[in-house]
Amino acid sequence: MTSTHEFISRIENGNEALFQASEMQVEAFFKSNPSTDALFEHFAGRCANEYMNMVEVAQRLLEVAPTGDRKTIKLLARQVLDEANHFDMVAKVLERITGRQIDIEALLNREAEGGSAKGARILEEMDKEDRLALHLYQFIAEGRAHRVWARMAEVCPDEMIAQTYAKIAADEKVHREFGRIGLEQFINSEADQKRALELASQIRKELYEVSCLNCVEVPEARALCVEAYGPSYLKH
Ligand SMILES: [Fe+2]
Ligand SMILES: [Fe+2]
Repeated sequence: MTSTHEFISRIENGNEALFQASEMQVEAFFKSNPSTDALFEHFAGRCANEYMNMVEVAQRLLEVAPTGDRKTIKLLARQVLDEANHFDMVAKVLERITGRQIDIEALLNREAEGGSAKGARILEEMDKEDRLALHLYQFIAEGRAHRVWARMAEVCPDEMIAQTYAKIAADEKVHREFGRIGLEQFINSEADQKRALELASQIRKELYEVSCLNCVEVPEARALCVEAYGPSYLKH
């Protein structure tokens, strides 16, 4: 059996094409000079996504708490607070874009019924007790979030908003590391590794679709993913 450490490195290397593609897509979106409406839609989705991450991780915290696993309890509690802060920070970005107060409850209701594609839906649909799935989601989705927010900070002309993105990016990197810590604990056999590989493929594909829907189609980004992950990434 491949050692858990080496296996996690493999998963990490396997994420790279998705992460690069996501960076290219988000950069292309911001450089396309989006209208205020398009920006509002984009950040309304991001705002609701942070909210959903907060709620989903809070539910995992409730699952884990009775086991008394104090380390994991603290990590999840920290992530819940971080996601609550991101929810607030993205709401402030929305207010800066529009120049007015926003009705957050209405926004959440609207986004719950549809709105933008959201990575957090992947977590929402997972079995709440499935720790391997939770930590793999953290490792891939939070890792991707880190790269995307960091790229947004680089290309954003508004200094105040860029600082917000950079702060979120730094937190998402920490959440990715929570994923790594969890995977080290929950990948113990070849069967776990096989399952993690299958699940990683699914999570990456779903996140890629989210990125295409929320940003813009970048043929080079798609080509990168086709090369890394195969023809299921071809446009159809
Ligand atoms: Fe977040
Ligand atoms: Fe996060």
